[in-house]
Amino acid sequence: MYEQIHELEVGLGDRSYPIMIGQGLLGTKDLTPFVAGDRVMIVTNETVAPLYLAQASGCFPGRKVDTVVLPDGEQYKDWKTLNLIFDALLERKHSRSTTLVALGGGVVGDMAGFAAASYQRGVPFIQIPTTLLSQVDSSVGGKTGINHPLGKNMIGAFHQPQAVLIDTDTLATLPARELPAGLAEVIKYGLIRDPAFLSWLESSVDALAGMDRAGLAEAIYRSCACKAEVVSLDEREGGLRAILNLGHTFGHAIETHAGYGQWLHGEAVGTGMLMALDLSARLGLISETDRLRGETLILRAGLPTAPPAGMTPKNFLELMAVDKKNTGGSLRLVLLRSLGDAVVTSDFDESKLRETLFHFCRSA
Ligand code: NAD
Ligand code: GLY
Repeated sequence: MYEQIHELEVGLGDRSYPIMIGQGLLGTKDLTPFVAGDRVMIVTNETVAPLYLAQASGCFPGRKVDTVVLPDGEQYKDWKTLNLIFDALLERKHSRSTTLVALGGGVVGDMAGFAAASYQRGVPFIQIPTTLLSQVDSSVGGKTGINHPLGKNMIGAFHQPQAVLIDTDTLATLPARELPAGLAEVIKYGLIRDPAFLSWLESSVDALAGMDRAGLAEAIYRSCACKAEVVSLDEREGGLRAILNLGHTFGHAIETHAGYGQWLHGEAVGTGMLMALDLSARLGLISETDRLRGETLILRAGLPTAPPAGMTPKNFLELMAVDKKNTGGSLRLVLLRSLGDAVVTSDFDESKLRETLFHFCRSA
C-alpha cells in the first residue's frame, strides 16, 4: 500500500490541480479521475522506462495505455525529439480526448507538457516527476518547452497539468550528481521567499545531501508549497513569478555555453545563485554576512563553485542578452534585498555586474 504524506493545491480557479506527495504512490494511486477519455500516452525516456514504466501504467486501471520512450538527455530537448511524441500520437491515432503523462525528470516533463500544449491545439496532461529537481520545481506551474541552440527553453508554452504525482521512492535510484542539482532549486525557495525554510535548510542540508528520506519529503512539500503559491499569484509571469528564476540568467548562460547536457540544470542554477548573491552584495543590497550564509548553504549542498573553465565575462553578457526576462533591450536580473526577499530589476549598476563576472570567471 502507499502512504500519501501530503496534498497541496495549485490554486488557479477552475484549472486548479493537486500535488500529491508520498511513498509507494506509483502503481497504487488511481489517477483515472484526472483522465477525461479512455486513452493515455505515457511519455518517458530510456533510463526511466525500465525503472518505473510498468508501475506508472498501473495508475490508469481501465484505460488503454500507450507509451513513447525518448532518448535521455538535455541535448535531446529539441524539435526532433519532440516530434517523436507527435509521431507516436498520430501513428496510434490518439484523438483530442487523450491524456499525456510525463514520467521522468524535468526534460521529459517539459517536452511532454509542450507536446500536450500543442497536440491538436492542446490536450490534458499529468506530471509524474522522478528527479528531485522535477519534484520541487519543473512539474509544478505549467511551463513547458524545448531548447534552441541559441538559448535555453526559448520555445514553449504555458500549459498546466491536471495533477502532479510525486512518489518520493523514485529518488532511491537517482544518480548521485542529481541530488545536489535538485537541492539547488530547493535552496532557491528559501533564498527568494521563505527565511524560515532557509534556516531549516541550514540545519538539514547535510541530511538531505545524504538522502534522508523524511527530510527530502519535507523539503519537497515546502518547495512545492512555495512554488504553488507564487504560480497561483502570477501564473503567466507578469511580475512576481520571475523571482523563481534566481540564478537562472547566469545559469542558462552556463548551460548554453557548456553545451546542453554538460552541466546539469541544477548545477548551473547553483553557481548562478552564487553569482546573484555576489552581485546583490556588491550592490549593497545584502550584507557580506548574508552573502556568505547563502554561499555556505549552496556549497554544503555539494554544488559547483565556479562557471566552466574558459568561460569569459563576454560569453556571459552575450548569452544573458537573450534571457526571456529582458525587456526593451535591457538585462533584468533576480537579486536579493535580504535572505528570503527577492526583487526582479534592470535598475542596477552594470559595472558591478561586470565585477561579479570577472570575479567568477577568474576563479573558474
Ligand atoms: P533530467 O530530466 O535530465 O533528469 C536527470 C537524469 O536522471 C536523466 O538522465 C534522467 O533520465 C534520470 N532520471 C530521472 N528520474 C530518475 C530516477 N528516478 N532514477 C534514475 N534516474 C532518473 O533533469 P532534471 O534535473 O530532472 O530536469 C532538468 C530540466 O528541467 C531542464 O531541462 C530544465 O530546463 C527543466 N526545468 C523546467 C522547469 C519548469 O518550470 N518547466 C523548472 C526547472 C527546470
Ligand atoms: N522555474 C521557474 C518557473 O517555473 O517559473
